Formats: sequence, structure tokens, C-alpha cells
Amino acid sequence: MTKSTEQLLKTDRETIFHSSTHLKQYAAGELPGRIITGGKGLRITDSTGVELIDGFAGLYCVNIGYGREEMAEAIYEQAKKLAYYHTYVGHTNEALIELSDRILKMAPEGMSKVYYGLSGSDANETQLKLVWYYNNARGLPKKKKIIARERGYHGSSIASGSMTGLPVFHSHFDLPLECIKHTMSPYYYRREVENMTEEAFSKLCAEQLEAQILHEGPDTVAAMIAEPVLGTGGIVPPPKGYWPEIRKVLDKYDVLLIADEVVCGFGRLGVNFGSDLYQMKPDLMTIAKGLTSAYLPLSGVIIGNKVWQVLEDGTDQWGPIGHGYTYSGHPMGAAAALCNLNIIEREGLVENSRIVGEYLQQQMQVKFADHPLVGDTRGVGMLHGLEFSPDKYHRTHFDPNLKVGAQIAAACLERGLIARAMPHGDILGFAPALVATTSDIDQMVEITESAVNQVMNTLVKQKLWN
Ligand SMILES: Cc1ncc(COP(=O)(O)O)c(C=O)c1O
Repeated sequence: MTKSTEQLLKTDRETIFHSSTHLKQYAAGELPGRIITGGKGLRITDSTGVELIDGFAGLYCVNIGYGREEMAEAIYEQAKKLAYYHTYVGHTNEALIELSDRILKMAPEGMSKVYYGLSGSDANETQLKLVWYYNNARGLPKKKKIIARERGYHGSSIASGSMTGLPVFHSHFDLPLECIKHTMSPYYYRREVENMTEEAFSKLCAEQLEAQILHEGPDTVAAMIAEPVLGTGGIVPPPKGYWPEIRKVLDKYDVLLIADEVVCGFGRLGVNFGSDLYQMKPDLMTIAKGLTSAYLPLSGVIIGNKVWQVLEDGTDQWGPIGHGYTYSGHPMGAAAALCNLNIIEREGLVENSRIVGEYLQQQMQVKFADHPLVGDTRGVGMLHGLEFSPDKYHRTHFDPNLKVGAQIAAACLERGLIARAMPHGDILGFAPALVATTSDIDQMVEITESAVNQVMNTLVKQKLWN
């Protein structure tokens, strides 16, 4: 006998530890649960038959959209042929060879090898170890600190959670690690000096970074890790001139740049990688999410020539590298990634992301630039953030207890749209699958407008805003 939604959710509450969830309230049934049963294109369905437009592609990862049978078949074929073998000491599989060649051909110039993991967090954990090994092999054992950014997001393991620059991922976990420092985020909207240009703000960010490197001691700073566009920290594209200014400082002090492309990679910004769009010239890159469109877990660290040469020489000195995961280079993940990249190429989804992404940015501007509740509307490609403010001209904040962003996300959901209330600030995020059409965007924008207006009217009625 099939179980009812209520019965299943009861078992869920009794057995599962959910991320980002108030555990006690969920266990007590005070928070809703939802069982997702299927999906097609941009839309998902739950066990009660409700259909939702997923305006955030899961966690900005289902780039080719839901329900691709071709993906299921590619995974099935690989499982029949070879479900698993490890990649230690020179063992490999055909799907992985083809995938790696393909990734390196897509990547910016100067990239040499790919190391595989299963999540963005473990890939960034690998990054830290490689950077430490790199400087040990160069005879620079003090050069170990990593500079990340306030509002950056790099995962939630010990090292990657430390790199993340959001307080909720640190407090009560004794993080960040001592060796990980945070520099100011390129959050132009929240600048302190009202009439500062974007270029001047970028220079200020670079100056602060330089001051921090000097304060720590350049001989102790190994690398900077950064997303091309800040994602979970609020969907913040860099201000004009930011990356060239930052790159100059890093070069001056022999500090590596790790581009965390977990969200931006594989077309989300309308180009293959954010590193291309902003000419970041990274030394190392982190990839995940869009690599398989989340049909199977797979992540990667792309290692540039400069670092690779040192790693190779290190093995002359110390023998084989002592780093490895059982599932690194898993053939099924590789087969899923290859099929995903084929679909992206065949259907021109990077180009679609650029064209429809421009439409998304335009429509958001048209509807919300002058909206009284919206302080900022910003984005690039298929990534957009709306930031709410009670006083758009002075860029003030709502009382966090009002949870305005979360209220608007809930009002969107009632109307059939998933938009994400970003974890820090009243910011609503959009990151639809790259297959979205202009009419999908119209629908998303229309629902959002109605949700924002409803929350605005409620705030006015409750005399919480005028
Ligand atoms: C930029 C970035 N890096 C790393 C991660 C961590 O990836 P995962 O959740 O797969 O560990 C995320 C997840 O959202 C991310 O957005």
C-alpha cells in the first residue's frame, strides 16, 4: 500500500536531519515539509500535485532543467558498463578521460589538470590542501593564509565553511579557522560613501585587500578565494574594474587566485565561466553544480600550469600525493557530466542564458528599479537579486525580525514560484535553469511583482512601513 503524504512526512520528521532548518520546530510539525516527486524543464511537482516554477533551479544547479531522459539513459548505460572503479595510482575510466579533456578545452587558458570530488565544499577543501602543499614544496612553509571575502560562499565543511563569509556558517561551530581571513566584499550598493563611482569603489576594495595582506605579512598569505559574482551572499556582480584591480594586488604579493565557479561556471552568466567574463586569470578553479546539472554529485578542482608544475615536482621530492577520495572521478558522475555538457552545447544553452538572461535583467529593471520597496535590482546572465529597503534613497535596512525577504519569498511560493530568500539581508534571488524562455521570465517577474506588492501593502496596513 502506498503511503500518504502525511505518513511519509511523519517518518521524515522522525528520521531526517535537514539543512538550514529549525530542527525542533520541524520535528514538532510546526514547519511545513514538501515531498518533491518530479520535475520537467523549469517546473517541479510535489506529492500533493502542486506544480511550482523553480526560479532557482534547485540550488542554482539544475542548469539543463528537470526530467531529461537522455541524462537518465547516459547514467544507466554507464552503470551497466562500469558503475565504479577508483582513480588511484593511474586507474581511470573512459568517461572521465573524455570529460577532463573537454573541461580543459572549455576552461580559460593555462589550465592543466582536473581533480574530482563530489561537492563544492570538498573541492574547496582540496583547494586549501593543494595551496598549502604548493607553498611547502616551494620552501615557503609560512605562506599558508587564505583570504576570502565577507559575504562569500564556499561551502560548509571546516575549511570551506571558514572561507564562507556569512556569520551563520561560523557561529557555534568555532569557525573560521585561524588561517582564513576575510576582506571586504565588492558590495557597491552598500558602499559607505554615497557619491563614490564603481571604479573608485573597486580601487577601495583593492586597497583594503593590499592593506590586509601587508598587515598579515605577504610571506604568510597563500591565496585568495572568490566567486566571480557573489552568490549566496546576496547575488552581487563585481563593480566595474574590480577584478583587474584585485589581480594586480595578488600578483604583487605572489598570492594565488582561486576562482570559485561552483555557481557561475557552465553558462549561468551567459559565458562558460565567470573567469572569462571578468578576465580573472585564476590560478585554480572550483567547479560543481552546473557540471552535471546536479543529476549526480560531481565537483572538480581545475589546476593551472603554475601550480601543477610545483605539485609534480613535489612528488619527486616526497612521493605520491597523499590526497584522495574513494569516489574521486566516479564514472557515473563523469558520464552524467558529459551528457550534460552535450546538451548544453547542442541546445546552445550558454547563448540562451546570455540572451534570455539579458531579458531577465531588463524586465527586473523595468518592474522594480522605481518600486518603493526595492533598493537595488542587480544581476548578470541567469542570476538576479532584488534587495529590499524601507528607504530606497538612503539604502536603509528593514528590521531583520520583520523577515521581509522571507515574506516575499513565501508570497511568491503561494503564487507558484520558488525564489530564494538569501540567508543574509532582505534579498530575493533568482537563478532559473538555462533553458528558461522569455515567457517563463515574464511569468516569474509578474508573480514577483504581485508578491512584492502584497507584502508592501501588508507592511503599510500594519503600520510597519509607509
Ligand atoms: C560558490 C559556491 N561554492 C561552493 C559551494 C558549496 O557547494 P556544495 O553545497 O556542493 O558543497 C556552493 C554552494 O552553494 C557555492 O555556491
